[in-house]
Amino acid sequence: MTTKKKPKVYVTRKLPDAVETRMRELFDAELNMDDRPRTKDELIQAVRSADVLVPTVTDRIDAEVIEAAGPQMKLIASFSNGTDHIDVEAAARRGITVTNTPNVLTEDTADMTMALILAVPRRLAEGARVLTDNPGEWAGWSPTWMLGRRIHGKRIGIVGMGRIGTAVARRAKAFGLSIHYHNRKRVNPVTEDELEATYWDSLDQMLARVDIVSVNCPSTPATYHLISARRLALLQPTSYIVNTARGDVIDEAALIKILREGKIAGAGLDVFENEPAVNPKLVKLANEGKVVILPHMSSATLEGRIDMGDKVIINIRTFIDGHRPPNRVLPFR
Ligand code: DGY
Repeated sequence: MTTKKKPKVYVTRKLPDAVETRMRELFDAELNMDDRPRTKDELIQAVRSADVLVPTVTDRIDAEVIEAAGPQMKLIASFSNGTDHIDVEAAARRGITVTNTPNVLTEDTADMTMALILAVPRRLAEGARVLTDNPGEWAGWSPTWMLGRRIHGKRIGIVGMGRIGTAVARRAKAFGLSIHYHNRKRVNPVTEDELEATYWDSLDQMLARVDIVSVNCPSTPATYHLISARRLALLQPTSYIVNTARGDVIDEAALIKILREGKIAGAGLDVFENEPAVNPKLVKLANEGKVVILPHMSSATLEGRIDMGDKVIINIRTFIDGHRPPNRVLPFR
């Protein structure tokens, strides 16, 4: 009896123990135990000999990396929902299949979006700092101290009503917000009815009318700086903007400018244009209580990461067995 050779799988970052153990059982897996981000040269070396690459959002899998791949490399099974870090077009040209891990991050990301929606108008981060930065100096409750703005009864405008946008809408509705959304296509009437959602064909018109904007669309060539300086200028001075999608959907420099000028009330950001670098002006605004910034952690739950690992494994196994993997990503059209 011959033993089938295990596929050589190169994993770029540390994954939860349970996922790594399963990968070792099933594959000839090269893991990254110390979680040091791989350099471009290391990625190029890896794709020369691996059968499968398992990158994540912190790796830039551009055309140069893809073109360096040896003929045995046939699958990029990304440990991520978004695939904007991969040149999917270049992969398709080389006959390399790309997969991702959709669905399993939806609820966690929507929870954290809701947390930011609450955190900014209700001054959660500022309040938390009062008791930790200067312990003992709190003078106690006062009728006019730490006043934020009410959420209940306001309008939320969701930009991108896919799985995560819809999950945000469900939560927002439960908090008494009325749901407005802009999307490439209108969602099905049953969902629209359930959410009592108002569809805006024109993003500009929606932005000018809502109290809170939640950015939930993927980063694609079409959504780069979708929330541009011109569109940011349409927002009301009392409005807030929250982004848990990708930093480059908003023109970050323009956002900083209008925040500094007090032309909107605040922002909650989990993602940034030049991650992991964060513009020091945003840090200053956070210290002044005008923004809440988080280090790209909206999907960070152990359960979610294990589910992502399971998806990666299923995609690899299905592909190796000669079938179409369930989470294939096609080039953006
Ligand atoms: C992803 O997987 O695309 C997410 O951004 C991780 O939070």
